[in-house]
Amino acid sequence: MKHITVFGAGYVGLVTGAGLSDFGNRVICVDVDKNKIDGLNLGIIPIYEPGLKDLVDRNKRANRLTFTTDIVNSITKAEVIFIAVGTPPTSDGQANLQFVEEVARNIAEHAKGYKVIVTKSTVPVGTGQLIEKILSETAVDLEFDVVSNPEFLREGSAIEDFMRPNRVVIGSRTERAAKVMKDVYRSLYINETPIITTDVESAEIIKYASNAFLATKITFINEIANLCEKVGADVHHVAKGMGSDHRIGKKFLHPGPGYGGSCFPKDTSALVKIAHQFGENIRIVETVMEVNEAQKRRITDKILSMMGGDVRGKTIGVLGLAFKPNTDDMRESAALTVLPLLIDKGAKIKAFDRVAAKNARALLPDSVEYCKNSYETAEGADALVILTEWNEFRELNLERIKSLLKEPVIIDCRNLYDPSMMEELGFCYDCLGRGSKRDLHR
Ligand code: UGA
Repeated sequence: MKHITVFGAGYVGLVTGAGLSDFGNRVICVDVDKNKIDGLNLGIIPIYEPGLKDLVDRNKRANRLTFTTDIVNSITKAEVIFIAVGTPPTSDGQANLQFVEEVARNIAEHAKGYKVIVTKSTVPVGTGQLIEKILSETAVDLEFDVVSNPEFLREGSAIEDFMRPNRVVIGSRTERAAKVMKDVYRSLYINETPIITTDVESAEIIKYASNAFLATKITFINEIANLCEKVGADVHHVAKGMGSDHRIGKKFLHPGPGYGGSCFPKDTSALVKIAHQFGENIRIVETVMEVNEAQKRRITDKILSMMGGDVRGKTIGVLGLAFKPNTDDMRESAALTVLPLLIDKGAKIKAFDRVAAKNARALLPDSVEYCKNSYETAEGADALVILTEWNEFRELNLERIKSLLKEPVIIDCRNLYDPSMMEELGFCYDCLGRGSKRDLHR
């Protein structure tokens, strides 16, 4: 059991704090936002993440997890200090480290005794060294180690990812800090979760390289899906055939309207920038970023062509706005590109997302009409587009949907339905990478 303080009660900080307390550690979550801390003390969770409230409540009741704005006390009490504050991108796409630096200066001012300072937010390579520099220049006598312990949490599955990770990465310069960190993750260690110990810079790169690789994998299957459409192949069979090779793996081979979220777009761009700073190019990732943007435009073209090339005065029902299911996060969601493009072409949009609509309102054009459910969205629409694979869209009453639509047109950007079944039901249905059989030698 360790005494831990987590700076930042945002997405990463909250999940980390709650998860580490569930492992048996004593955790203080500290944030400068008093409203957020007051809310957390009253049991109000500021973000949508399945399972987080239960985890927080359980550990609060067990007195292992507390929330405060008291920075000084949080620093003096902790042996391990996690930095999980925001690193928003600057206008040129780099991570803004202002809040990380602020935490480092606070630690330098108030810390006594040995401290392990851990970066958990995604930070550029060299941040570990920057914190070391701030601490050794301003707190000359302080005994400390800086560790990089990147998170691999997926929004919507963050608790599962934290409690049962594929691996834990610990980047440290000393055995002493690595040992402290293994103690922090003791319950995972006992479960035989692979713990990868390395140096700080390698751990920092592991985070970016992992996200860029996953973004590449998705983009790869999106391009293969586009080819499948042309040659009459089925991308699901292709993905299964490829993914059964253990060297490739089955996951993240699902075509879609282009990846979004707060991580892949930001981290691919940051990796390219970091490489440029050091005189290197990661051309494959640069191309992935371009192809991903093109995929969103391609989806728009697909919708247009399914609607006869002209959407002026036509109504399009859209199911799903979030960048993926189980989150209210709209950041870099395909909807933010596709919907404005369709509106520009003269379409009227009716949209439904049970969770993300609230955030979407602030980001999408005012003309978008928000519906209460899938059926209201389909009513009177000239086509229905599925953009996010929320579970409720997998179980639509298709007969009812068909009777409500003005034209029985469905463009399914997440491949939730079987094309032949949809055809039998009388839909004019299109999805990604499942072309119908055709003569390739005409
Ligand atoms: C991602 C990583 O998966 C996490 O490991 C990482 O910790 C996190 O970024 C982060 O850096 O904090 P997240 O952005 O929450 O997590 O979402 P993913 O589930 O990875 O999905 C990202 C995007 O890719 C979504 O738009 C999703 O629809 C798309 N995607 C994913 C596909 O289009 N196809 C797939 O097969 C998988």
